[in-house]
Amino acid sequence: MTERTLILVKPDGVARGLVGEVLRRIERKGYKLVALDLRQIDRATAERHYAEHHDKAFFSDLVDFITSGPLVAGVVEGDDVIVAWRTMMGATNPVSAAPGTIRGDLATQMQLNVAHGSDSVLSAQREIGIFFPDL
Ligand code: RTP
Ligand code: MG
Repeated sequence: MTERTLILVKPDGVARGLVGEVLRRIERKGYKLVALDLRQIDRATAERHYAEHHDKAFFSDLVDFITSGPLVAGVVEGDDVIVAWRTMMGATNPVSAAPGTIRGDLATQMQLNVAHGSDSVLSAQREIGIFFPDL
């Protein structure tokens, strides 16, 4: 089924010059970019985006990190893209992310894991609404 997902190249990925590498994987796979923007988000936006983690011990570190520099936000469209993009990113912790995945190939630390993808249809709709309300 054709779906849309929110993708982020997180501040670590932008700082390391990995935007092209991440977008290359999306385009080679056959997915379509329908929105793309380099921006730095404020704490209120970050707290909305990661609201599900509000009560976790790592929440304030996560908000500090995601607001620490520019990120690239995008909306990607394609067949079953929500689960497929999460497969392409690999496990949350790069230590256990499979080789061939973004996190498996490009990252070593939990927080500095390069990319984000929505985890369900509902999350995708909610997150796209936060980052691209006009879409
Ligand atoms: P994301 O939302 O960033 O795409 O990552 P995810 O779905 O794979 O993982 P999620 O559980 O949503 O966690 C969001 C981000 O929080 C950091 N995290 N730290 N210290 C910890 O135990 C811990 N757990 C999660 C990670 O940077 C993760 O990407
Ligand atoms: Mg998540």
